[in-house]
Amino acid sequence: MDHHVKDLSLAEGGELRIQWAEREMPVLRRVRERFCKDRPLEGTKVGACLHVTTETANLMLALRDGGAQVALCASNPLSTQDDVAAALVVKHGIPVFAVKGEDKHTYYNHIASVIANGPEVTLDDGADLISTLHFLAQDREGELSHSLSQVFERWSGEERKALVGRIVGSTEETTTGVIRLKSLADQKKLLFPVVAVNDADTKHLFDNRYGTGQSTIDGILRATNRLIAGSMFVVCGYGWCGRGVAMRARGMGARVFVTEVDSIKALEAVMDGFMVMPLAEAARRGDFFVTVTGDVAVIRKEHFEVMKDGAMVANSGHFNVEIDLEALEAMSLSKQRMRPFVDEYTLKDGRRIVVLGEGRLVNLVAAEGHPSAVMDMSFADQALAVEYLVREGKDLEPKVYKLPRPLDEEVAKIKLESMGISIDNLTPQQERYLSSWEMGT
Ligand code: NAI
Repeated sequence: MDHHVKDLSLAEGGELRIQWAEREMPVLRRVRERFCKDRPLEGTKVGACLHVTTETANLMLALRDGGAQVALCASNPLSTQDDVAAALVVKHGIPVFAVKGEDKHTYYNHIASVIANGPEVTLDDGADLISTLHFLAQDREGELSHSLSQVFERWSGEERKALVGRIVGSTEETTTGVIRLKSLADQKKLLFPVVAVNDADTKHLFDNRYGTGQSTIDGILRATNRLIAGSMFVVCGYGWCGRGVAMRARGMGARVFVTEVDSIKALEAVMDGFMVMPLAEAARRGDFFVTVTGDVAVIRKEHFEVMKDGAMVANSGHFNVEIDLEALEAMSLSKQRMRPFVDEYTLKDGRRIVVLGEGRLVNLVAAEGHPSAVMDMSFADQALAVEYLVREGKDLEPKVYKLPRPLDEEVAKIKLESMGISIDNLTPQQERYLSSWEMGT
């Protein structure tokens, strides 16, 4: 079996951690048990480009038990858990192409290896696999980056067309990926249907908020071992992830500042009790900074220029573009790695700015990503989305779809059940009342 992981001898430890995560994933377990029985994915080739974590491993096992032949690569060069990658290969015979710390060239080579497996359904977290497939479908070799042209050159034009032509549909896990895919769809360039798993309520309401909230703080703590209580903590972006990070930082005793570009979100942050101000102002005050905007160059030169000595900056947005590290490099006399994932830049005026996780998703780079209990819902959504695409993909148009509402609700119901929580049902009278306009007049 073709694969590329760091060290197969890490498999034992990885397997134990996969089992540990599984205990907290009752919804995915329920889906997996049904998949085992009904085999709805029998013979389907699935290619996944996801963070290679213990939870992803459990998703891969569920898809395999549904009858799929899966291959997996990383969706970020620094988020791979090498022991998990080894366990999937050794213990479960799943081809994995992922090594923590891989360079960009290797990253795209790994995506190419998953494409070479001939997937019919793909799963993405950030849309790098789908974008690569779209680049392959175009004859624009001259315009490709070096990393992408090596992928392009692997196959002849006919082979590339055949590989892309196999795809029945794809799923996308995160906000940034969905934004990229909606842009492709708006330009009428999307080649196959995509289910935006991120847009399911049982995904972004929980994963982005509670998952990113907890794991971002976890990443900062593991990297720095600093005290959050009493600190000035700046959160850039008050979307689903930002709400979670701000809430958890406050819970640990920080004084939290929020920066926004959207007036409604800014107002929400004010009414939630946070201090809201432009970043130029917050930059002077913060001890910790976290970007979660999905935007580019949010923290830049003018902000580094006024930061306090020792200020720490981290990113939990999908791409490593939210902190302008090039500007910081240019302003710095030296850079020193103080601890794993902690780089201290010394500026010309002697101030030090500390960058965590090289500006990449700090929760996955310096910690282990979201807790399993929250990924349980996101990955149950993913598994149900794959099943939906296998069943209905051929009849769907090349558009971005939401996960069908009944599937979203099914996930919430099973999660509640697994927590031992039951809720009320509408009485017939209430049903009538809520669906009529005559009452109350
Ligand atoms: P969202 O769209 O709900 O929120 C983003 C917010 O950032 C919006 O309110 C927007 O107005 C604001 N924003 C945009 N530009 C800004 C700027 N220059 N300054 C201040 N605020 C700005 O998106 P969501 O779901 O919160 O995701 C944010 C990012 O986090 C995305 O890149 C997403 O893919 C990623 N993500 C990361 C996860 C992780 O594990 N670290 C998990 C889930 C999502």
